[in-house]
Amino acid sequence: MNFPDTAFSFTLDAVCPVTGARAGTLHTPRGDIQTPVFMPVGTQATVKAMAPFELEEMGARIILANTYHLYLRPGADIVAEGGGLHGFMQWKRPILTDSGGFQVFSLSTLNRISDEGVWCRSHHDGTPHVMNPEWSMSVQKQLGSDIAMCFDQCAPWPCSREEAEGAVRRTALWAARSKEAHAREWQGERRQALFGIVQGSVWEDLRLRSAKDIIPMDFPGYAVGGLSVGEPHGDMYRILDSLKGVLPSGKPRYLMGVGRPDNLVEGVARGIDMFDCVLPTRNGRNGTLFTPYGAVNIKKKQYERDFTPVDPECDCYACRTFTRAYIRHLYRSGEILASRLCSWHNLRFLIRLGEEMRKAILEGRFPEFRRAFLGRFSGGEA
Ligand code: GUN
Ligand code: ZN
Repeated sequence: MNFPDTAFSFTLDAVCPVTGARAGTLHTPRGDIQTPVFMPVGTQATVKAMAPFELEEMGARIILANTYHLYLRPGADIVAEGGGLHGFMQWKRPILTDSGGFQVFSLSTLNRISDEGVWCRSHHDGTPHVMNPEWSMSVQKQLGSDIAMCFDQCAPWPCSREEAEGAVRRTALWAARSKEAHAREWQGERRQALFGIVQGSVWEDLRLRSAKDIIPMDFPGYAVGGLSVGEPHGDMYRILDSLKGVLPSGKPRYLMGVGRPDNLVEGVARGIDMFDCVLPTRNGRNGTLFTPYGAVNIKKKQYERDFTPVDPECDCYACRTFTRAYIRHLYRSGEILASRLCSWHNLRFLIRLGEEMRKAILEGRFPEFRRAFLGRFSGGEA
């Protein structure tokens, strides 16, 4: 296949004059993605419980996969032999892969971390592995994703200022090596874009330093990492405010690991274009459902004879077809369909939230949309 040189670009379609919220289009060789966008997570080359045609039906336009997991199992060589992620899992639209620079810290048994990389043991079988920017770029090439992420260091929360500072320094070092390794792997082929990641925990000056380190490397997109790791939401919003005027406005901005509906709206209000999170599928599997009023659990007795849809305003397959009483019955009976329907609804809820915010921005009424949404939505059980 031939990919034009302008393979990856980002167009701003409208900006909210009050908040700076953006409606954009991310052009990729496998199709355009309209933003703001929520990206379902498919850690193991599958969005849990959903088939690709169902993701297509619910309006998913880009999904995520994880370098760390797929390298360990089945192995990047096997995915490559199966036609890359797109061929292996039969999803034809864009895929973004996370670099492993987050999962290695949260999942593996760490042996040693240095500027060279991370020496760790697999969370499956304890086998030793070395993970570093060069490893990550090589694996992400084998996976054949459309958007790759730099190998970064995410400081935990809470952490000391020194720890956060160390992660900022190393993330810059690793971003430069990621970019170099990526160029070497692809040899001028423009089939995979590489996004940079800003770290710095909850310190505004460290965030600005990280942004100043990463932005001159001229990535086609920038992610904000190291948030939604347990810090109060106010800290997340304060950091996003501090980065709003610093990240280049002509490039897409991705807030990693954020999937609470209220966090999506507040992120967009601070100039974020892309989001991902396991929350809709994880919550779905335990029967927790997003509604415009907050999260509710379908297991509750109050739904026993409730023959209305989960969310009467929702256009997902589950809400168009089934009642709360039926889904509650499925859940209590341990039926697989309960997990599928709850995941389906939650994914569609966040995808539709992206679509609705985009429409509101294009129509010049995002501030009203935000006020109305947040006025109704309480965190609930999410
Ligand atoms: N996913 C959620 N947060 C992060 C982060 O800080 N870095 C990476 N690579 N992935 C993430
Ligand atoms: Zn629904």
